[in-house]
Amino acid sequence: MTTVPTIALNDGNSLPSVGFGTYPLDDRAVEPAVAGAISSGYTLIDSAYNYGNEKGVGRGFAESGEVRSSIQIATKLPGRHQGFDSTIASFTESRERLGLEYVDLYLIHWPNPSVDRYVDSWRAMIALQKDGLIRSIGVSNFTEDHLTRLADETGVLPAVNQVELHPYFPQHELRAFHTAAGIATEAWSPLGQGKGILEEAVVVDVASRLGVSPAQAVLRWHVQLNSIPIPKSADAARQAQNLDLFSFELSPDDLAAISSLSRGRLGGDPRVHEEQ
Ligand code: A2P
Repeated sequence: MTTVPTIALNDGNSLPSVGFGTYPLDDRAVEPAVAGAISSGYTLIDSAYNYGNEKGVGRGFAESGEVRSSIQIATKLPGRHQGFDSTIASFTESRERLGLEYVDLYLIHWPNPSVDRYVDSWRAMIALQKDGLIRSIGVSNFTEDHLTRLADETGVLPAVNQVELHPYFPQHELRAFHTAAGIATEAWSPLGQGKGILEEAVVVDVASRLGVSPAQAVLRWHVQLNSIPIPKSADAARQAQNLDLFSFELSPDDLAAISSLSRGRLGGDPRVHEEQ
């Protein structure tokens, strides 16, 4: 089985350098996918209240038979539950649906700046972490301004910011800010949702030269950028392949060629997107 290196977080915990994404698998589809992913060696499983699959994620973990401490399970606070008390209530629901005593990583799903409750939500997460119910607290889709405000108003920086990141949207500036601040970068849609990027000539060429698949070339690009990709696949062979990233390396030219595919985001803009 592949041995996956880890990335240290600013709170003393660590994450594996690749995780398993579960969007848009529902409860029924996610259960065997998570059990299978854990048996192929994934130790980080991503989920969210809004994916509607926390129950299936928890069942998939239980079915895997792995000990609790060797698997990290992440979920996210939905936009409509932002605010101090509602964050505590929403987290409790998520934790119960997952069937866990504690959650390894809890993220604010989107900042929803027009609602302006992400600082209150963050204070609730700091309290839940102090109570031992969450190991690491982080955010998703936060910009540099949102991250700076959390640090200024609470003194606690997120351990992780999970953002859209793939060769069409390499996020050079935000990654540089994360590195300087000590925030780990997680990548959603690391393969660009499987569209386009995997057929790009530059990706296909790098992959065939290294004897790997286009998906592996892109995921290795993430690893060398210190971005933690969380590829989703419902297919067991692809799940195993997407973790097998540590026996080959991209050259600096390969990295630059893949980054030059940059053209813009596929998903919502965090400055205006309102997550329900
Ligand atoms: P499938 O679930 O049928 O394997 P992202 O993680 O960027 O959102 O991309 C997910 C998409 O990429 C899914 O459609 C998934 O399809 C596809 N995918 C995942 N792994 C691979 C792979 N190794 N090769 C080709 N496509 C993949």
